[in-house]
Amino acid sequence: IKTIGVLTSGGDAPGMNAAIRAVVREAIVKGLKVKGIKRGYAGLLQEEIVDMEAKDVSDIIERGGTILQTARCMEFTTPEGQQKGAEICKKHGIDGIIVIGGDGSFKGAQKLAALGINTIGLPGTIDLDIACTEYTIGFDTAVNTAMEAIDKVRDTSTSHERCSIIEVMGRGAGYIALWCGIANGAEDILLPEKYDYDEQKLVNNIIEKRKHGKKHHIIVNAEGIGHSASMAKRIEAATGIETRATILGHMQRGGSPTAKDRVYASTMGALAVDLLCEGKTNRVVGYRHGAFVDFDIDEALAMKKEIPEYEYQIAKNLSI
Ligand code: F6P
Repeated sequence: IKTIGVLTSGGDAPGMNAAIRAVVREAIVKGLKVKGIKRGYAGLLQEEIVDMEAKDVSDIIERGGTILQTARCMEFTTPEGQQKGAEICKKHGIDGIIVIGGDGSFKGAQKLAALGINTIGLPGTIDLDIACTEYTIGFDTAVNTAMEAIDKVRDTSTSHERCSIIEVMGRGAGYIALWCGIANGAEDILLPEKYDYDEQKLVNNIIEKRKHGKKHHIIVNAEGIGHSASMAKRIEAATGIETRATILGHMQRGGSPTAKDRVYASTMGALAVDLLCEGKTNRVVGYRHGAFVDFDIDEALAMKKEIPEYEYQIAKNLSI
């Protein structure tokens, strides 16, 4: 390996910059050249490729977003797009590529590996929905951002004795909602993986808890279920309790990364370079049982992840 390329792909996540910085600097320490590929696979196909030096990643560890920009690229899901991408890598002397993103981005990396480019994936998504790892870059920051916002909504919800539905991100995955459910002591959590769409049960629970003296009723609703505004109207009509909806939205994807996201993203970035130096390819970095590890991308993509039943149960038990 002589030259490493690095790109960020899919939704951005706080800590991606820390990972980019680690890739660039670890590679330089190991005597390699680094090229930054802008706007994910879309930028690769447009040859938006720049040389990166150590100073190019100064003052970014504390910044949210990604200095390389990111995109979701349909063309790269086609065999023609993938072939073109591999040829562009070869043309620019990129013999190893580090892809920071989610499962969709890893599928692209898998294809590049099959076309002879050494690839390593780093799990970057606020959703925590990558099966091979207990940690993804950005989740910790996003969940802390959502938690702080929910604390604020809760203050006003209590003062007004309202029911508040707070919608957090996660189109297909309820991990942010689950963590906020526990961290914010929410009365109800609605996760795409678990919710049975029985709104009457929700209504009964609100009425029951009000009878027991609860001054507010916080419902953390995952984006995958959505429809928080109409749900609020129906709940208000059914319970007679004033109900408001707050959709936190993309604020959860921005902001300065937490210490955990900076440290883990830095470690994963450096590890990705070290794996390439060891001659590894078609791997994805993960964190499991207290250690940073790597998996074959094909195996990682075949793994399934489920909401931990015990945490889900205690979220309910602790909200009595
Ligand atoms: O990055 C993950 C995520 O934030 C999901 O939680 C959300 O469903 C999706 O991305 C939103 O994507 P976009 O910003 O493209 O609307």
